[in-house]
Amino acid sequence: MTLIHETDYGTPARVSETLVTLEIDGRSITVPEGTSVMRAAMDAGITVPKLCATDSLEPFGSCRLCAVEIEGRRGTPASCTTPVAPGMKVHTQTDKLAKLRRGVMELYISDHPLDCLTCAANGDCELQDMAGAVGLRNVRYGFDGENHRAAAKDESNPYFTFDASKCIVCSRCVRACQETQGTFALTIDGRGFASSVSPGAKESFMDSECVSCGACVQACPTATLTEKSIIEHGQPEHSVITTCAYCGVGCSFKAELQGTTVVRMTPWKDGGANEGHSCVKGRFAWGYATHKDRIMKPMVREKITDPWREVSWEEAVAYAAERLKAVQAKYGRGSIGGITSSRCTNEEVYVVQKMIRAAFGTNNIDTCARVCHSPTGYGLSQTFGTSAGTQDFKSVDKSDVILVIGANPTDGHPVFGSRMKKRLRAGAKLIVIDPRRIDLVRSPHVQAEYHLQLQPGTNVAVVNAIAHTIVTEGLVNRSFVEERCDPKEFAKWEAFIAEHRNSPEYLESRTGVPADQVRAAARLYATGGNAAIYYGLGVTEHSQGSSTVMAIANLAMATGNIGREGVGVNPLRGQNNVQGSCDMGSFPHELPGYRHVSDDAVRHEFEAAWGVTLDPEPGLRIPNMFDSAHDGSFRGLFVQGEDIVQSDPNTNHVTSALESLDIVIVQDLFLNETAAFAHVFFPGTSFLEKDGTFTNAERRINRVRKAMPSKVGKDEHWVACALATAMGYPMHYETTAQIMDEIARLTPTFRGVSFEKLDRVGSVQWPCTGFEDDDTGMAIMHGESFARGLGRFVITEYVPTDERTTRMYPLVLTTGRILAHYNVGAQTRRTANVAWHPEDVLEINAVDAEIRGVKDGDMVSLASRMGATTLRAVISDRMPAGVVYTTFHHPVTGANVITTENSDWATNCPEYKVTAVQVARSNQPSDWQVDYAKNDVERKRIAAANVIAAE
Ligand code: SF4
Ligand code: SF4
Ligand code: SF4
Ligand code: FES
Repeated sequence: MTLIHETDYGTPARVSETLVTLEIDGRSITVPEGTSVMRAAMDAGITVPKLCATDSLEPFGSCRLCAVEIEGRRGTPASCTTPVAPGMKVHTQTDKLAKLRRGVMELYISDHPLDCLTCAANGDCELQDMAGAVGLRNVRYGFDGENHRAAAKDESNPYFTFDASKCIVCSRCVRACQETQGTFALTIDGRGFASSVSPGAKESFMDSECVSCGACVQACPTATLTEKSIIEHGQPEHSVITTCAYCGVGCSFKAELQGTTVVRMTPWKDGGANEGHSCVKGRFAWGYATHKDRIMKPMVREKITDPWREVSWEEAVAYAAERLKAVQAKYGRGSIGGITSSRCTNEEVYVVQKMIRAAFGTNNIDTCARVCHSPTGYGLSQTFGTSAGTQDFKSVDKSDVILVIGANPTDGHPVFGSRMKKRLRAGAKLIVIDPRRIDLVRSPHVQAEYHLQLQPGTNVAVVNAIAHTIVTEGLVNRSFVEERCDPKEFAKWEAFIAEHRNSPEYLESRTGVPADQVRAAARLYATGGNAAIYYGLGVTEHSQGSSTVMAIANLAMATGNIGREGVGVNPLRGQNNVQGSCDMGSFPHELPGYRHVSDDAVRHEFEAAWGVTLDPEPGLRIPNMFDSAHDGSFRGLFVQGEDIVQSDPNTNHVTSALESLDIVIVQDLFLNETAAFAHVFFPGTSFLEKDGTFTNAERRINRVRKAMPSKVGKDEHWVACALATAMGYPMHYETTAQIMDEIARLTPTFRGVSFEKLDRVGSVQWPCTGFEDDDTGMAIMHGESFARGLGRFVITEYVPTDERTTRMYPLVLTTGRILAHYNVGAQTRRTANVAWHPEDVLEINAVDAEIRGVKDGDMVSLASRMGATTLRAVISDRMPAGVVYTTFHHPVTGANVITTENSDWATNCPEYKVTAVQVARSNQPSDWQVDYAKNDVERKRIAAANVIAAE
């Protein structure tokens, strides 16, 4: 195995239809206009020495190492900042240039520690490489002059160090933080010899605005910014390209290893979703994969009050199968079911849904997408005909207006958030619709034109009011609507939306958004050029989640903002494979590829392939499973890698449902909260041990490759195959590639997908139907026509949620995520990311806090009609009066003890975003927390008994 080296072309690629031909060192080369001489030389296979240039950043021209001679021009211009010109004749290697470059290097090296042999970057240092490239043999200035070699180290960041003594002030880090990440945390402080890199106003990295994305570390050509894992382990000796297992951006990484020990995760430049950028989670928070809390052996127990007993895999499978069969014998086939996980690969999800349908003989299969993006699936298929976003991430580079509703990209989808900010800095206009003042509203060099700070639960009203403005002010794109949309449905919708009850003025008292702001935002969206909508769980997790998705789709169709680059309707998917888990047939009514189980032709195709008879009736959704558990008709559950106790709403209802079941089987990395109610536990594998694919928010199918062998000795899909076999339905795959081949055979939109092709082309975006390598799928959907033919406008009546504030519960709680953690925190809590967020806190407006005598940092009780918890209050001007906010990353907080069972009318997606609550000062843990603490003792005891060496 070898390290995968990526070529650095020195400056970014340029796109232009005008081509320029020039001559470099006697070679003729043709490149797009705007290309730098340095990049043109690299394209011709000629390497020019460089230090301050790298192809992820705009050229800066500070080091002078890349000087060249150009015939007819005076001096020695920097090749990184000099654009090519027709007929230009460039010389990159002359005696004059060699002398100049050696002189530059002499100056750098005279002020640099000469500890190369013991330096962490030894072998991976551009300064070292350049000293060799220019033939540096001595340093005329000596090493005793004024220098920076005693400069202090900053080791405050948990993941990387800043050793100022090694800094050559090339400014690559500063530019990476500005251009790539968009955080502007670093500056060059001082001038001339005294200049140095400074996080913020001479703060430590940890105290600065730094969000630990790692872009500066990656850009640094020396050992100044270095990963602590590299300092500890040394340089990697081989690497594997794989995909991040956190969010729906789906960033590609090089897992860099020594043997089977990961020493660094480097974002991959050729990654279609991230193009070399990352966030703190994917870049640094992978240590959970070898955390001592991982459970390594299967365990069983008769009752949930019994201690766990470690058993062999075969015994655990046989035990699980016997108990499931016994339940079915007594209560019927439909008395058991399963839940798939959006954290698992497409292949793992596929085999679990196949096991449930073919071996359990029931469609009682659902997925955690039920509680996040199920309204997206419903809403977009009703309007456009497909259950997926319409664009690729790159599309935002062409947007003129960006409307973000119910999403917080800089925390939830950070790499895409950075891309969006870059476009905003370049001039696109921003509209934010969110109760909170999220970072995008105002951050360095980004300022929203309009922030519609609506009352939680009024999304449909606000989007309808925008549509009303567009219709009544004559801003509809008539030609698009006439050509592309169903005229009857449009006419009905147009008449509905034009009614006064949908006007911004009528709805202002409900939404809390001034009518003139809504009208202005509507005009900007409709007339500002390419307008794109990005939305997240702040849209879907409502009683009208599906209605809002359809209202958004209506907006895009009415203005013609669909079917080309720069526009579209883009759900920012939560978990890494939420798109894939839905694609793979995890819903109770749909087989893989979103085809209804009642469709005889489709069902017969699967029946023929799987050799079974399938149930034509949809099965139970997750909330129905819990309700049926309470009424006694549902008795057994298989849960794949999902902590439903922590992630599903109304925890008390979930736990009492689980307590009533005869058999609960959990497959996970850790003994999670759900495992407290399990009878069988199968150890899962981390993404570093998996072979398969994830599908991201842009429908991009990326390969996940094994960086290390399974730590538990089995691939995760082995369990589903073995359990299905033990239940009487033989299921076996020799390789994971065979699972994808079966998916491709049975799913039209995946027809042209195979591991071999992905390994050759990198990634594809479904629909991908051709087998040839040049068919990499569809980046932009609905170009010529909608997937359903004509686009369908749907009437979206605003219906207020049943969840009302009262004197007893006068505030509205809304929930979300923060950058450092992922969902229930099972992974990120087991990494150094806890340094940024050790606990969930309640963000509360100063007025609401003062009324209750709450000061910043006080512990408060947060109570709803469902339950109560205690957590720390943080007074925040992000919150409007009357609205409080928390995250759900720490199980001890139990944020979902508070949330209700209200759900989306179409899909049952829970209404996490609107819960009426009261807040009061309190130093007492809630009853729920007292119970949690008791169970936690047991969990810790078991985890301690399963210690593996942390690497
Ligand atoms: S880690 Fe990222 S945010 Fe922090 S200073 Fe470096 S580039 Fe900026
Ligand atoms: S820290 Fe690294 S990237 Fe930043 S100026 Fe110093 S040498 Fe250049
Ligand atoms: S968490 Fe999301 S944005 Fe961050 S590296 Fe992973 S996929 Fe990329
Ligand atoms: S690489 Fe061109 S001036 Fe530094």
